[in-house]
Amino acid sequence: MKYIIGNWKANKNKAQAKAWIGEFLELSLENFQDKVAIIVCPPYPFLTLAHKAFKDTPIQLGSQDISFFHAGSYTGEVAANTLADLVSYCIIGHSERRRYFKETDATVAQKTANVRDFEIEPIVCVRGISDQIPKNVKIIAYEPVHAIGTGNNESVKKILEVKKCLHLDPDTIFIYGGSVIPDNSEEYLGSDEIDGVLLGGASLDPKKFYKIIKYAL
Ligand code: PGA
Repeated sequence: MKYIIGNWKANKNKAQAKAWIGEFLELSLENFQDKVAIIVCPPYPFLTLAHKAFKDTPIQLGSQDISFFHAGSYTGEVAANTLADLVSYCIIGHSERRRYFKETDATVAQKTANVRDFEIEPIVCVRGISDQIPKNVKIIAYEPVHAIGTGNNESVKKILEVKKCLHLDPDTIFIYGGSVIPDNSEEYLGSDEIDGVLLGGASLDPKKFYKIIKYAL
C-alpha cells in the first residue's frame, strides 16, 4: 500500500476548493482502494465540504495541524475533538509549523497525543534525525527543509540513509516529502523502502495529484 498525501497548505478559496474536488472526482478512482491510500488535507474551513464530497469514495481526509489544547476556551484554535468525525489523519510538526509557529518536539508530542484521543492517525513530520519522534507513531514523513517547495528534491539514496538513522520500528509507514512532482514521483514510489509521498505544490492541481497516484498503482 502506498500513501499519497496532498497538503494544500494555506491555499485556495471556497470556489477553488470546490473546483478541485469536482475535477478530482471526475477522474477514475476505481481499483485504487487496495493499492493506494489517498489522503487530502485542505485548510480547516473546507473540511466539511470535502467530507461530504468524498463520502462513498476511497479518498480520506486529513487536517494540516491540530491545536495543542483540548477543547475549551482557546479562541481561534481547532481542537482534536472538533475534527473527530471529519478527518482520519492529521499532519503534525510540519517544518513550516516548527519554523513560523515555533513548534517544538514537546508541542509535537502533545498534539500527537491529542489526536490519538479521538482516533485520528497522526502523520508526524521530521526534518531529519534531530527531530524527536513521539512513541508509537505509525506514520512518519521525512521532509528535509531544503527540499520543500524548492525543486531540490532529495535523492532516494539520501532518504534511505536518513531513514536508517531514524531507527524506526519495522512497521512504521515511512513517507517522503519535498518537491515531489509527477516527473520524479516514480523514483520514490518505486522504492520498497518508501511507503508514499507527501505533496505540497503538486497537490494543488488535481491532474498532477492524480498522475502521481497513478504511479503508485
Ligand atoms: P512541496 O511541499 O511538495 O511543495 O515541496 C511538501 C510539503 O511541504 O509537505
